[in-house]
Amino acid sequence: MFTKRQEAELITSIQGKGEIPVKFNYLGDGATKWCAIAKKRSGGGINRMEYELLTKRAGDFLKSYAGSGKVNIIDVGCGDGSPVLPILAELKKHKINFRYVPIDISPEMLDIAEKTINAHHNCEVKKFLIDFELGNFSEITYDLKSDGSANLLLFLGSTLGNFSDRNRVLTNLRDSMGANDFLIVGVEMTNFAKINKLLPHYSEKIVGDLLYTVPEQIGIKKSNTKYDAIWNDKDSQVECWIFIVNDQKIKISLDSFTLEKDERLLLARSLKFNEWTFTKLMSDVGFRTELLTTSENRSYVLSMVQPTRYSV
Ligand SMILES: C[S@@+](CC[C@H](N)C(=O)[O-])C[C@H]1O[C@@H](n2cnc3c(N)ncnc32)[C@H](O)[C@@H]1O
Repeated sequence: MFTKRQEAELITSIQGKGEIPVKFNYLGDGATKWCAIAKKRSGGGINRMEYELLTKRAGDFLKSYAGSGKVNIIDVGCGDGSPVLPILAELKKHKINFRYVPIDISPEMLDIAEKTINAHHNCEVKKFLIDFELGNFSEITYDLKSDGSANLLLFLGSTLGNFSDRNRVLTNLRDSMGANDFLIVGVEMTNFAKINKLLPHYSEKIVGDLLYTVPEQIGIKKSNTKYDAIWNDKDSQVECWIFIVNDQKIKISLDSFTLEKDERLLLARSLKFNEWTFTKLMSDVGFRTELLTTSENRSYVLSMVQPTRYSV
């Protein structure tokens, strides 16, 4: 299931940070568990909001690609692929050719995204199995343009809020972009009035099913844990924790160790931004904003950015 490198990262993260990196849950049958969440979020959650906003503004986002013969839609952390459909529909409407390029850590997620796109469009799909936290992927983005096509990267679904080191992830994306490439990022905003409404979502069974994927694979019995989703006001993020009820043996490949009673592990975080924290983060990493649009209730933002050259 895990590569040697992933095993090492998992063990180091559990022992050093008390955290199971959420990304490993999407491997194997975790991919279908994510699809259940995505389906629910597209009914009335953030995927719906993002979809509507993207549909409404797709024409504006794509103005810069009007003269392009072909566009590579590089879907970073593709999930089931459905979030990019409004962009593909708009390209089709304007008779601009495109190639769908999903990038993900999970081979299963890549296959699901390919199926989603194939069900709607007859286009070329080029999948890349990559962990984008580990470095930039400029060799791929550069190579894609060798036929004269243009690149548009998409980082949707508020995935940015799931990483502890958001600067590193964004830097990797920036370093994978040429001067004419654009990136569209979608993030959820903080709405303090709605925090209490938001929290129950993180205790739903479908979320637990996904987040317990890795814990169960490494021997943590669900019945030997207590789960809690809390709002961390200082860091402006939802955090999903498990507490170990009785000493628990862990086994990862040939390595085994014990988590003691009352130890806790972070299973996931979901940072909520405000317009200031988000635009500051983007500009600190070295992006200039071309277009920023907010949902009517101000709870979701889509931003189209480009790498900028600047001196520190
Ligand atoms: C929260 S889901 C969002 C999926 C989709 N973009 C959406 O909006 O519905 C995160 C996606 O990013 C992928 N992912 C998370 N961390 C990753 C990493 N470090 N490298 C590559 N893919 C990653 C997951 O496998 C999953 O497909």
